[in-house]
Order: sequence, then C-alpha cells, then structure tokens
Amino acid sequence: MDMNKNIEIAWHYHNGTKHPNGSLMSRFHFYNPASKPYPYKIYKDLPSTALPLEKSEKGVSTMKAISANIKLKEGRQIPDLNVLARILYFSGGITKTINFSGIGDVEFRAAACTGALYHIELYVVCQDIPGLEAGVYHFDPKEMKLRQLLKGDYRGVLVLATGNDINTEHAPVILVYTDIFTRNTVKYQTRGYRHAFWDCGTIIANTLAISSVHDLAAKVIVGFVDKPVNTLLDLNPDKEVSLALLPIGFTKNVSGKEIPEVELQNLKTEPLSNYDVDDPEIQRIHQASSLTLLDEVNDWHRNAPQITISLNIGAAIPLQSSLENGIPTNSLESVIIRRGSTREFSRESISLQQFSTIIYYATRGIPADFLKQYGNSLIDLYIIVNSVTDLGSGSYFYHREKNVFELLKEGKFRHVADNLGLNQALAADGSAAIFLMSDLNKVLKHLGNRGYRAAQLEASIIGGRLYLGSHAYRLGATGLTFYDDLVTDFFSPHAKGKSVMFMIVIGKKV
Ligand SMILES: Cc1cc2nc3c(=O)[nH]c(=O)nc-3n(C[C@H](O)[C@H](O)[C@H](O)COP(=O)(O)O)c2cc1C
Repeated sequence: MDMNKNIEIAWHYHNGTKHPNGSLMSRFHFYNPASKPYPYKIYKDLPSTALPLEKSEKGVSTMKAISANIKLKEGRQIPDLNVLARILYFSGGITKTINFSGIGDVEFRAAACTGALYHIELYVVCQDIPGLEAGVYHFDPKEMKLRQLLKGDYRGVLVLATGNDINTEHAPVILVYTDIFTRNTVKYQTRGYRHAFWDCGTIIANTLAISSVHDLAAKVIVGFVDKPVNTLLDLNPDKEVSLALLPIGFTKNVSGKEIPEVELQNLKTEPLSNYDVDDPEIQRIHQASSLTLLDEVNDWHRNAPQITISLNIGAAIPLQSSLENGIPTNSLESVIIRRGSTREFSRESISLQQFSTIIYYATRGIPADFLKQYGNSLIDLYIIVNSVTDLGSGSYFYHREKNVFELLKEGKFRHVADNLGLNQALAADGSAAIFLMSDLNKVLKHLGNRGYRAAQLEASIIGGRLYLGSHAYRLGATGLTFYDDLVTDFFSPHAKGKSVMFMIVIGKKV
C-alpha cells in the first residue's frame, strides 16, 4: 500500500501530540532557554554573494499585498538580485535585536516563529538572473548572503519533482523552505512537526506578499517527490527536510531541457543543533507523508478536495470590511519591520470595521497546488469575540463566501479563550481569538498523510496574514498554542470532527 494513503499514521501523530497529555509527549521534558540551539545554519567553505539590501517602501498597502493573486503572465517577471534580496529579507531576515537578561541578544525575524527558535531555512534555486548566476543557494539571514551549493541551472530537478507544475516550469527563481527538526523539538518535542508548518507558513505569508509588491507571480507547492528535492539541497532527511517550494516569476518554460543528475555532496556545515535527539515519531509521519513516485504527485494534485460550504446559516452579521480606498495605507515593508508578537493586550475594543477588514483580506485565497482553485480553502475560521465594537461577545463562524459572521453562541467567553489557549492570559485579554480549523477527515481522505502537511501550512499562511493585517492597523497579534479537543468541543456541534491547526489572538496592545 502506498504509505501516503495509510492515514492512520497522520491520525496517530496528530492525536498523540494533542495538548494536554498527548501520548507521544513527555511531561518530564525540560527546556532551558539559555541552551537554545544556534538559530542559523552555517556552511563552511562555500562561495558567497552579498545580498544588497534596500528596504525602501514600494507604496503597496499591506492589505493589498496580503490579498493579491498575481497571475503568471507573459513578459518580464524576472527578479534581479536586488529584488531577490528584498524577497528573502522580508520573508526571513532579521528585523530587530532585543537583549534578555540570562539569555542575551535575540535576533528576531520578519515572521513569527514558535519559541523564536527559527528552525526554518530558505534555499534558492535559480537560472541566471541579473546580478546572480544560475545555481542552488542557501540564504544566510545573519550575514545577508547567499552561499552557493551548486553552480548551474538545476530548476529542472524541481520541475520534474512537482510533476511539471506550471508555475514551477516557468519560474526563474524557486524558493525551497526546509526545517531542521531538532532546533524546534528541543523545546516542543514531537509537537514540533506541527511547528515546522506553522513557522514555515508565517514566512510564506510574507514571501507571497512581498512577491506581489514586485508584481511577481508566486505559488505554494506542497506536492513533490521529496527525495530529489532533499538531495538537490544536500539535506540529510533524518535531520532536515524540504517542506514547500515556492516558484516566483515568469520566464520561458524550463521543461524539455536536460535535467542534471544530482547526488548528495555532504557539504560541511557547523552542527545543525546542539540538541541531537532524533524523534522517531516525526520521522514516521514525515516518511508516511512523503511522495516517492511522480504518479503519486500527479494523483495528489488531481485529488484536491472540492470544498463545499454549508448554506445553512444561523444569525448572520455582515462584515464591515473597508473597501480598497478605505484600507490602512501602511506599506507592507513598514508593517513587516514593526511586526512582533504582542506580549500584553489591553482588553480595549477594536472596531468591527478593523476586525472585518483584517479577516477579509487575510482570507481571499492562496495560490497553492493543494487547492482546486484559487479561493478554495482547507481551513475554517472559528472565533471567540471578546471585545469588538458592534459585535456582541460570543463565538462565531466566518463564512468566507458570503462574508458574514455566523453567531454560534452568545456570551462572555474571555475565560474560555484563556483556557483554550493553554491558560494564557493573552487569549482572554485580546479582542478576538481566532482558531483556524480543518476537517482532517475530509482532507486526509483526499490528500492522504500529505494533506496533513497542506492543512497545517495553509492555516499558518492565513495566520501569518492575520498578523500582518492586524499590524497594518497598529493593533497587536500573537500566535498561541492550544488544547486541541477543548477547542473542538467548545465550537461543537458546528465544529464537530474538525481539528485546530493554528490559533491567533488579535487586539489592542498595552
Ligand atoms: C504558531 C505560533 C504559536 C505561538 N504560540 C505562542 C504561545 O503559546 N505563547 C506565547 O507567548 N507566544 C507564542 N507565539 C509567539 C512566539 O513566541 C513569537 O513569534 C516569537 O517569540 C518571535 O517573536 P516575534 O513574533 O515578536 O517576532 C507563537 C507564535 C506562533 C507563530
């Protein structure tokens, strides 16, 4: 049997990593923040290219950038090195440094990341572009450099691995996002595999948005044959794996050219982590969700579920989203630079218009290979409203198609939000706690174990957009972790059978 179809493995992983008391988690695991792994991958002895960083604002509002869907179009969509540097910086660059006593300096990055552990690495596979020769590169955000792993045009390897995905075939530049497991499992144990997608998704939200600012088409690819991609990047898949590809721009079709052979080079790096305990359960779910044959990839792309939204709506409150000319004008670049996870909310209300606008623009659609069409989604938004002007406190479901909130239960639920968010006051003090949930039964049935990766990633991209949208209004936001089954129970019967993929709270900062 094809491993991807044995969805018991995804369920075993998911159920075993639920809070509290997931059977795959130890209550006795201890993490000392002072011994946090070094959050940069360092290659020794590779030629490097400095990335010329120019952070100027291009004048595209954040709301527009997070909701844009730039199509593949004939003509020039080839980023030069300056644009590539901006894409990498605004996705995964260092945006601020804060000193904490007992820990020292922490370099924070453009996108939110669980525990600030920064376990996601970015690679670039490109043709010759102005300022950079064709090759395979690793992005070093600390030194703002690209390090060359291979010289030459290797895009064909990725095109083939995706079963000739059209964006990948035409992309002059393809980003690959990888995860170094132990840099996150050191704190979060086996649940760290969920975090791989959470923390990759928040970065991808930024990449999609900054690519749109430069009018470059981009698409999220989760379906690919894993092995050639990992081999191309010289990864040891017991330690580090490719999670997603993101082809950017448009150029002549690369298919038809001879595909170069690739093999592992065993390039020298500094140790990937000071925590070197491999997690067999993560290896298991990752292998079971890996695709080994092109037929599986093609099958996978064909099987994207048809999403049908129930038309039976209870009490519906229309969103008051601002139209294009009423949205905040803060540029994407300025918002990414000042984004940070809020550490304390004030309990003050945000307006219905702000809330509606953030939700609306964050959920317009994601160009992704696992969705039948742009605008479909594997994710549903369930919300606890604590303090939004003109929206009674209670629990709600967001109907994306009709752009209305359906009231599920009226009531004051700050204490519930606090409890669902692992007893963290942030959820009680924020204006709204948003739970991004997925009907995993349906997703896994269609997409197999690989669907688990897709659902986690899509939720996190929306989560990343909610972060950006909130900051565009100078509001605060923070991702939170959660008690899985309590969330489903609270929103049931509406949410019966759905699983939480991502949680985020938004509100006014203190
Ligand atoms: C998916 C996700 C879950 C998070 N969970 C928590 C949490 O449970 N509690 C918390 O205080 N912060 C949480 N955070 C915030 C991170 O700690 C924060 O992103 C990280 O320290 C980096 O800081 P920055 O977001 O300000 O750049 C979470 C962030 C993400 C993306």
